Amino acid sequence: MCVTPPVAGPDLSPSPDIDHWYTAREALRRLYGDVPGHSFAAFMAEVARVLADASAARSRDLTARDIRRRNDADWFSRPGRPAYSAYVDKFAGTLKGCIARIPYLQDLNVGLFHPLPLLKPRDGDSDGGFAVADFGAVDPKLGTFDDLRDLAGALRRADIGLVLDVVCNHTAEEHAWAQGWLAGDPAYADFYITLDDEAEMAAWSAHLVDVFPATAPGSFTWVEGAGVEGAGVEGAGGWVWTTFNPYQWDLNYANPRVFLAMLDVLFTLANAGVDGFRLDSVAYLWKAKGTICRNLDGAHDIVTAFRALLTMLAPGSLLLAEAIEDVRHVVPFFGDPLRRQCDMAYNNTAMTALWAAVAEGDGAIFDAALTGAADKPEHGTWLNYARCHDDIIWGALGGIADATRQKRWTKFYAGGESFAEGLAFQANAGAAASVCGMAASLCGVADDAFGLDRLKLVYSVVYALDGVPMIYMGDEIAQTNDAAFAIGHEPDVRWLHRPAMDWRAAGQAQAEDGPQGEIFAHLRMLSEVLMALPGYDAAGPALPLPSRDGPVLAFARALPKGRLLCLANLSGENQTIRLIKPATDLFDGLRLAGATMLPPWQALWVHEI
Ligand code: GLC
Repeated sequence: MCVTPPVAGPDLSPSPDIDHWYTAREALRRLYGDVPGHSFAAFMAEVARVLADASAARSRDLTARDIRRRNDADWFSRPGRPAYSAYVDKFAGTLKGCIARIPYLQDLNVGLFHPLPLLKPRDGDSDGGFAVADFGAVDPKLGTFDDLRDLAGALRRADIGLVLDVVCNHTAEEHAWAQGWLAGDPAYADFYITLDDEAEMAAWSAHLVDVFPATAPGSFTWVEGAGVEGAGVEGAGGWVWTTFNPYQWDLNYANPRVFLAMLDVLFTLANAGVDGFRLDSVAYLWKAKGTICRNLDGAHDIVTAFRALLTMLAPGSLLLAEAIEDVRHVVPFFGDPLRRQCDMAYNNTAMTALWAAVAEGDGAIFDAALTGAADKPEHGTWLNYARCHDDIIWGALGGIADATRQKRWTKFYAGGESFAEGLAFQANAGAAASVCGMAASLCGVADDAFGLDRLKLVYSVVYALDGVPMIYMGDEIAQTNDAAFAIGHEPDVRWLHRPAMDWRAAGQAQAEDGPQGEIFAHLRMLSEVLMALPGYDAAGPALPLPSRDGPVLAFARALPKGRLLCLANLSGENQTIRLIKPATDLFDGLRLAGATMLPPWQALWVHEI
């Protein structure tokens, strides 16, 4: 008698898991139910196999953590636990170096660590690692896959979650999938998108918006041999879809095998102990002729299926949407409570509006941003930030402020006429150029008397918003721009705000010495105040205060008892604020009532009961 061994893997008997399976299947059917010459049933059997293999390979430690997290869905958004984002080489040299720096992260009460891309990139320019040549290997300059497992384990023991980039929209042209596709290997057929004539390219392009209009204009790159039957025909080729740089080839998610390949990448990383995945450029995953090819339903179906299947393998894993779009396009990436997509998304609306408000010396634009950001489902969490490794793109505020107003902000931060020391990056015709610079430089820390106060103010606002605050490496020590950024990186001005960590300054900061000590201590204080604030884990969304005065940015969050008010003076003059109810100044514990003076560029948190 032949006995088939039981297949280890997802339990498809009636259980909460089966709902996730159905959710994934429903989304995948919309995407792949009618692909000509393709059996949907066979595809779903493949999905089940990939899931079963990954489940069988999941370690006991991780399974134990999965069980804990089933009842601790908010593990990544504990009060006062910021995220910290850094390039591995700039922060600590290597992954092993990152392990050695865990105590530093703990000093800031960090709850999530997001090292920027660390998988093996292409040689030469790799867009800061966002052109991945091998999803199965770590960049050899940073370490090995075992080092990644060790980092995940060490962070786990320190109660810090590890979030990695999954560059899911594209690969480097050197990636084995891309080279296999180019060589005509049937395993990679249709992995990428080629248009074979200029007229067709023009028809698609008419609706697309360039991401890098100055450094990599257009969305297609001529590649010899691409899309040609029987590769190697001299001079023949096609236009490969390259939304970003010419060496970053967009994957073709209309091909179900691409979905499977990326699912496998997610599962491999999840089984290495990675807790969260930053879905890079998630808005771009689906293309349809005659559309802008961003935020399409297909992209949402892909994320819905990723989320549901990941929940089956690794309940409690975190999906972070990198959708730098108008908030009306970002919110749908949370999905709905029954068909969840991402658990967290960058709050780029609040981020850009905060810098715009600082430039205008008026909090009005921030009110509008808050109203937009509050319109999200309850299960979605904002990742609030002042700076990240990318430029500040004003276009996200297009629904609130026109191009003329946006251009004034660019001039403010990059025109050399204010306290700010930023640089303009690039812009599409008629639009305002985006801005680059470290937060400290944009706040004028080097030369302006109020620079440091401004930086503290910016972070006081970020920490008080609903969601998880993020520290961008170096901001906690008021690190300024990398003056030598152009060497090796021009014309990509984003490297202006990607300096190497100044560990001498960090040492002083930890010893609470000098200006770096002041901002470091301030961030620690903000985090400790939130940890101690009764009921903060149940605080409501940040909403504008109707009685706000022009130069005072203000918002309130309902608490089970009373409200948390965040007030920030965006001017160089004292401002009087009038409290309606008696309140406690959360920074120094003093009781406040009635009229209170807010000095220039100071922020205040009060607990009103
Ligand atoms: C994301 C990254 C950015 C990169 C782009 C292309 O937007 O944050 O740095 O250039 O994706 O991968």
